[in-house]
Amino acid sequence: MTKLELRSFADALQIPLHMSSPAPWAGHTPFAMWLMARLQPRLFVELGAYSGISYLAFCQSVREHNLSTQCVAVDTWQGDAHAGFYSDAVYETLKSNHDDLYGHFSTLMRKTFDAAVSEFSDGSIDLLHIDGLHTYDAVRHDFETWLPKLSSRGVVVFHDTAVRKDDFGVYQFWDEITLRYPGFSFEHSHGLGVLFVGAEASALSSFLGFDITSPEETALLRSFFSALGAAQERRVSLMVKDHELMLKMQELGATQHELRELQSKHKSLAAASDQQHQWILKLDSDILSYQQKINYIESSISCLCKLLFNCIRGRLR
Ligand SMILES: C[S@@+](CC[C@H](N)C(=O)[O-])C[C@H]1O[C@@H](n2cnc3c(N)ncnc32)[C@H](O)[C@@H]1O
Repeated sequence: MTKLELRSFADALQIPLHMSSPAPWAGHTPFAMWLMARLQPRLFVELGAYSGISYLAFCQSVREHNLSTQCVAVDTWQGDAHAGFYSDAVYETLKSNHDDLYGHFSTLMRKTFDAAVSEFSDGSIDLLHIDGLHTYDAVRHDFETWLPKLSSRGVVVFHDTAVRKDDFGVYQFWDEITLRYPGFSFEHSHGLGVLFVGAEASALSSFLGFDITSPEETALLRSFFSALGAAQERRVSLMVKDHELMLKMQELGATQHELRELQSKHKSLAAASDQQHQWILKLDSDILSYQQKINYIESSISCLCKLLFNCIRGRLR
């Protein structure tokens, strides 16, 4: 019988308010909201926020549980080689979703990770989410640069621990780092690793309400959160389809408008052509009557000529 308590998982059942596409993080939003509610960190920092799918889920949990957590998202909001490079609209949209709801406890720090690190005191961060560039060198650099900033309660979350393609190397760093610190990971939605780096890590992991050293409990946790995550991924794909449908409807509306304009042009051209046809028929009948008159005049002239000829011939005899 597992020690997992159903009640402690109620925090995972809130619906994330903010979704956009692309959304490789969508499947972890229930876990983010649950983790925030369970850990109640004093300071949460995210490295790599992009459109804010992960960051806003963490913030939503802070707000809904009325926690005293301070949150900071660090990003250049310019993109990188893996996420792709994007326009300022991404930052502007995130800011408009963020400021009113979360601005009183959260800051969007537009800097490189290396430039931002000096803004934080050593031992101050309870929860750190590393989601920048996903090469082995970049993730290792981000972890090592920010490690001194983590508190004795420090937990680090890594995204993309299950991606093994191209130069993605988080999985490799995860395999190495879990030899030094306890942790567990999810396989769904590109993988998410949760690492307990603080000295109070083992106490914290039990505070989560399950035993991370128990294969049975971690397996149950994995299936629970992957099922909740799948619903969020499905939601994003429906959102994308909805958007595509809306664009198609707009296209259809424009085509129908064009069709109506063409039909009305066709109608007026048909009316004009009908009028011309009537006119041609009238011209034909006019020509016919002129032709008859000409024939009559020609035959009259021919009779007169014959008469004149006979008359002249009679006089000459
Ligand atoms: C994978 S995306 C983050 C995804 C985000 N967590 C989500 O939920 O969708 C990576 C982000 O990290 C940012 N980034 C990568 N390297 C960075 C660096 N060294 N300094 C600042 N931002 C960086 C990129 O601009 C990009 O927005």
